[in-house]
Amino acid sequence: MLTSLFIALAISAVFAGVPSQDESKRLMDHFSDAEHFKNEHHNKQFDHDAFLGEDQAKTFDQLPPEESRRRLGIIVDKIDIDKDGFVTLVELKDWIRYTQKRYIDDDTERHWQQHNPNNEEHLPWETYRKNVYGFMEEMDPKELTTPNSEGFTYSNLLKRDRRRWHHADQDEDDALNRTEFSGFLHPEEYGNMRDIVVLETMEDIDKDNDGKVSVDEYIGDMYKPEDGIDEEEPDWVKQEREQFASYRDANKDGYLDAGEVKDWIAPPEFDHAEAEARHLVFEADGDADEKLTKEEILDKYDLFVGSQATDFGEALARHDEF
Ligand SMILES: *[C@@H]1O[C@H](CO)[C@@H](O)[C@H](O)[C@H]1NC(C)=O
Repeated sequence: MLTSLFIALAISAVFAGVPSQDESKRLMDHFSDAEHFKNEHHNKQFDHDAFLGEDQAKTFDQLPPEESRRRLGIIVDKIDIDKDGFVTLVELKDWIRYTQKRYIDDDTERHWQQHNPNNEEHLPWETYRKNVYGFMEEMDPKELTTPNSEGFTYSNLLKRDRRRWHHADQDEDDALNRTEFSGFLHPEEYGNMRDIVVLETMEDIDKDNDGKVSVDEYIGDMYKPEDGIDEEEPDWVKQEREQFASYRDANKDGYLDAGEVKDWIAPPEFDHAEAEARHLVFEADGDADEKLTKEEILDKYDLFVGSQATDFGEALARHDEF
C-alpha cells in the first residue's frame, strides 16, 4: 500500500515536469528523474516533495538543520488552522493538497510564460516542438535513437510528448490553452489524462516491450540490487512479490495488463494527499494519539523537510529568503 503510494507519487514527480528555465533541461531531467524509483533513496525526497511542494523541498535541501527546523516550525503554525496546538490528519491533508496545487499552478505558469511569452490563448504544437525538440533537427539520426542507461531515446521522448499532447488537446485544434497545457505537464492531476499516465507508466516498466508487466519488471521498477552485491532481497521486496501474485495480478495470468496497472497506480478512489498525511502522522506520532504536536513534528524534522549540514548549504541558504 505504502509502496504503491510511493510509486504513484514518484511517477507524478517524474511527470510533474521538472521546473527549469530551459526546456531541454526538462528533457534531460526525464533521464535523471528515474532516480526517484531507486530503492529507498526516493522515499525521503518523496515525503519532502509532498509536504513542501517540489520547489520548496529543493530550497530546504540546501539549508543547515537548525534553519530547516526553524522554518518547519513556522509552517507547523500555519498548518494548525484552528490553533489548538495540534496538527490533525485533516489539517495535514489540507496542507498537502494546498502545497501540491500551489506547485502545479506555479509550474504551469512558469512553463506557459516560457513557451507563450505573448500570452496568446493557445500554444500550437509546432511552437512547443521547436522550443523543446528543435535541437534534434541538427543531431545525427543515430544519436536520436541511441538509448541512455534508462532506455530512453530522444526519438521516444518526442513521440511520447506528441502523443500526450494529443490527449491533452480536448478540442483537437492541435494547440493547447492554459488548462490543457497544465494537463499536458501534470497529467496525474487530471482525470481525462489518466489513461495516458497508465500507458506511459506501463511502457517504462515493461522493459521487454511485450505489452505486459512481469513480476520481475514490477520488482525491477522499485528495487535494484546494488551492482556486484549478491544480497538477499529485503523483506519489503518479498512482500511486493506476494502482493503481485495474490493481489495486483487479478486474473492470475502471471502478468499485469493495462487494466491491472491502472488499478495499481491510479485506483479511482485513491486520495494521495490523505494517504501521505496518514503516512506522516503514523511516522511522527510519538504518543500515538493520531495528531501531531509541534514537538513531535520537529523531533522528526527530517521526515518532513530536508537539510544539508554543510557550509556550502549555509552559504546558499543566506541567499534564499523564505
Ligand atoms: C481550455 O479548453 C477547454 C476545452 O478544450 C476548456 O474546458 C477550458 O475551460 C479552456 N481553458 C481556458 C483557460 O480557456
